[in-house]
Amino acid sequence: MSDIVLPDDPNFGPEVQVAYAGYRSTRLRAPERPLVTLAEELHRIDGPVFGWDAVEPGDDDLTSQHKGEALGERIVVSGRVLDETGDPIRGALVEVWQANAAGRYRHEVDNHPAPLDPNFSGAGRCLTDDEGNYRFVTIKPGAYPWGNHENAWRPAHIHFSLFGRAFTERLVTQMYFPGDPLFAYDPIFNAVRDPNARALLISRFDLSTTEPDWALGYRWDIVLGRGGSSTPTETE
Ligand SMILES: [Fe+2]
Repeated sequence: MSDIVLPDDPNFGPEVQVAYAGYRSTRLRAPERPLVTLAEELHRIDGPVFGWDAVEPGDDDLTSQHKGEALGERIVVSGRVLDETGDPIRGALVEVWQANAAGRYRHEVDNHPAPLDPNFSGAGRCLTDDEGNYRFVTIKPGAYPWGNHENAWRPAHIHFSLFGRAFTERLVTQMYFPGDPLFAYDPIFNAVRDPNARALLISRFDLSTTEPDWALGYRWDIVLGRGGSSTPTETE
């Protein structure tokens, strides 16, 4: 198979924007009814949210969670979490998970015949600082096959989950790396129809955060909200 099928599936009505024909599992899990808008008071986060109380020093370094060094290309991924007006979101919980350098997750259902790394679990977390900055040290993940269609491979990506100040600022998405040759063939990436929005999912190489003799730097800013500059979520 040389190309994925990009047109929307005519079996889905216009209200079902989250279904995408080329991304097979959306046919089963995309909602079939119009979305329900919650009352404004239910948007607020008034109490503790799962995970906020357990961020430990070092949780932001995925390369040093075990006795030995994680294998692969060491990278620093950093950026800012902003609201729609460009103001920083302080204290947002940012969680990441990813495959190792060989494209293998440490997960029981991942049977990709690539090696696990005993020194890499592939999960990290941090809180944004007063300027909305987050920063992770990790390993550049490998591409992996995923069985969506014949010869289907995911572009290298890091999964992100964010909790901002309200449930409307909850975001689950993926960050990609610039110039990946798999972009054109990936239904998850292309499920974000707007090319400008897709571009917001791609980090940029950044020499200023590249650390000499140690790690390459990638920058990726995240906007929580509903405006045109918002980072696309996995439901869009
Ligand atoms: Fe993944």
